[in-house]
Amino acid sequence: MTPAAAPAGKLSESQAAREITRLSAAIEHHNHRYHVLDQPEIPDAEYDQLFRRLVELEEAFPHLRNPASPTQRVGAPPAQTFASVRHTIPMLSLGNAMSAAEFQEFDERVRRGLKTTNAVEYIVEPKLDGLAVELVYVDGALTIASTRGDGTTGENVTANVKTIRSVPLELRRQRGAPIPARLEVRGEVIFPRAAFERLNRDRAKRDEPPFANPRNAAAGSLRQLDSRITAQRPLDIFCHSSGQIEGAAFASHWDFLAALRGWGLKINPLNRRCTGADEVVSYHTEISQRRESLPYEVDGIVAKVNSIDLQRRLGEVSRSPRWAIAFKFKAQQARTRVRNILASVGRTGALTPVAELEPVPVGGVTVSNASLHNMDEVERKDVRIGDMVIIERAGDVIPYVVGVVTGERTGRERKFRMPATCPVCGSKVLREEGEAAYRCIGMSCPAKLRETVRHFASKYALDIDGLGDKLVAQLIDSGLVKTIADLYDLTKEQLTDLERMADKSAQNIVDAIAGSKRTTLARFINGLGIPQVGEHMAAVLAEQFGSIDALQSATEEELLAVRDIGPETAREIRAFFDQKDNRTVIARLTRAGIRPTVERRTRGDKLAGKTFVLTGALSMPRDEVVRLIEAQGGKITGSVSKKTDYVVVGDEPGSKFDKAKQLGVRTLDERGLRALVGD
Ligand code: IVH
Repeated sequence: MTPAAAPAGKLSESQAAREITRLSAAIEHHNHRYHVLDQPEIPDAEYDQLFRRLVELEEAFPHLRNPASPTQRVGAPPAQTFASVRHTIPMLSLGNAMSAAEFQEFDERVRRGLKTTNAVEYIVEPKLDGLAVELVYVDGALTIASTRGDGTTGENVTANVKTIRSVPLELRRQRGAPIPARLEVRGEVIFPRAAFERLNRDRAKRDEPPFANPRNAAAGSLRQLDSRITAQRPLDIFCHSSGQIEGAAFASHWDFLAALRGWGLKINPLNRRCTGADEVVSYHTEISQRRESLPYEVDGIVAKVNSIDLQRRLGEVSRSPRWAIAFKFKAQQARTRVRNILASVGRTGALTPVAELEPVPVGGVTVSNASLHNMDEVERKDVRIGDMVIIERAGDVIPYVVGVVTGERTGRERKFRMPATCPVCGSKVLREEGEAAYRCIGMSCPAKLRETVRHFASKYALDIDGLGDKLVAQLIDSGLVKTIADLYDLTKEQLTDLERMADKSAQNIVDAIAGSKRTTLARFINGLGIPQVGEHMAAVLAEQFGSIDALQSATEEELLAVRDIGPETAREIRAFFDQKDNRTVIARLTRAGIRPTVERRTRGDKLAGKTFVLTGALSMPRDEVVRLIEAQGGKITGSVSKKTDYVVVGDEPGSKFDKAKQLGVRTLDERGLRALVGD
């Protein structure tokens, strides 16, 4: 673009079309240089200028916007659910080798399988600790991206994957490597480590729970229903294997990787060719030594027989190929001393023992706390204050204690005893029969209250913006909030009286609290913090009972009759509503104007008592089919038997279809199913 580009509005359509094509190609070229090759050619500012010009033109001429335009990487409006995608070829998993000896055994198995004593050629690659995805390119254009799921069926995450800058939306055309008609390529989506630490710091500031490890952050980002959020996460990908390919064939995995690179896909530059097991073992040692300095988490290497012909001859066994193996690294462990063991109080009053450690670096992160989960665990591992312990971090932020180095005991170590009274409010601490957890029974324990309010205001409950940890603590310490219902009585003046609270922030919070009154019944039930009732259970209860009054008056038997609710949960729910305090709080919340709405689906009984099995790909997502059937009282089971009433058959059905025919079970296609439910 020249600096004196004409205002978009002044261009003719054909001029705009030409410039859009030119800009899109230039931007994708620079994306590839920057995100795939790591060799940028122009300064960021210049790139931004190109990008802004393209946005300007596409806004002036919206019909000229191409779905593969680089501007479309910013994410699409939120979706309701992810549709299912059936993988043409199942996505297999890998067998593991935990030591050099185990890898040698694998190599021997391979050579026995191939009836050879010659050294085998392997391609070795870092084993990335991320999330496997499959990208489908049809005639060079990215059409579908899906997660691995159960290996057979994954979730359609195309909108999210399109936001990953290192994923080409169109394959690069180049001489000598024609674009295949269909290319299914698989890779690992990763969350770079530095960005992960930044993300968690930001989440902590906003009082959002941290992701346990980069892998979870990658999964959480990719499974975002709002791809605009995904677009803000610096996800990256390395391609490592194939699904179905039409219109191209390769003699070796190495050639396949080279072709991918040529088409603009990102390949790990650390991949290497090895001959024989010893070279693979050296590579394993080398990568394990470089592990800390890599910008992403790696938990081993993957070794693959290079020749595609030999791969075919070896085949697969129990959903893993016989020609490839994950050769894992040893877990990241360290030794350190337990300075103290403390009990921390959660929302339900449960006391969790936490070991305070002498800070120690483990896998590039300084660790100073380790969870001991519960008292049974402390006793089983016999962890004492003053002990030297081994801790392990499996890519996780919160590490755990593997065991005690008992040989280093001096006799001065002290056993930890759960305090008889709550360290926060001084109320009694009790352990119920058969339960691992000790609980503070103080009804107004500030620690419980703090967790209760935090949970109530959290994103998955009433979603009150700005009501963070610090403010919650201030509100409780100042006595302004004694129950969640008090939130709705707060005034701007009361808030401005609190330390470090500006007028504007106070107003924002009052507004956010008022805004939270419009919520759904599921969020409201979740927000109450009933023991055993999380997000999913809250949604089930909301749908089943339709109002908070109906739920409050449900008997234990009625609760038990609900799908997914077991005796313990039913008892906890009943006990929660039997507490007078809780009923008072709910009544006050209702009086404050909270009127949760119900997304109730109409229920029928057209399929009452009938069991269904699904097989093959249907045009609607699997969970929608499930809902359709369940809404009419039908039941879905996993396998076909004589008791099955119907098998719903989609495209490319599996063995369940054969079984149905064999047993004479009625089969239906999608139209048949719709007819049955009167849809
Ligand atoms: S190849 C049939 N290569 O590990 C072989 N997988 O346990 C297909 N993974 O689900 C996988 N890095 O998500 C391959 N360089 C790599 C990998 C890799 C990570 C993951 C992949 C797979 C899992 C298998």
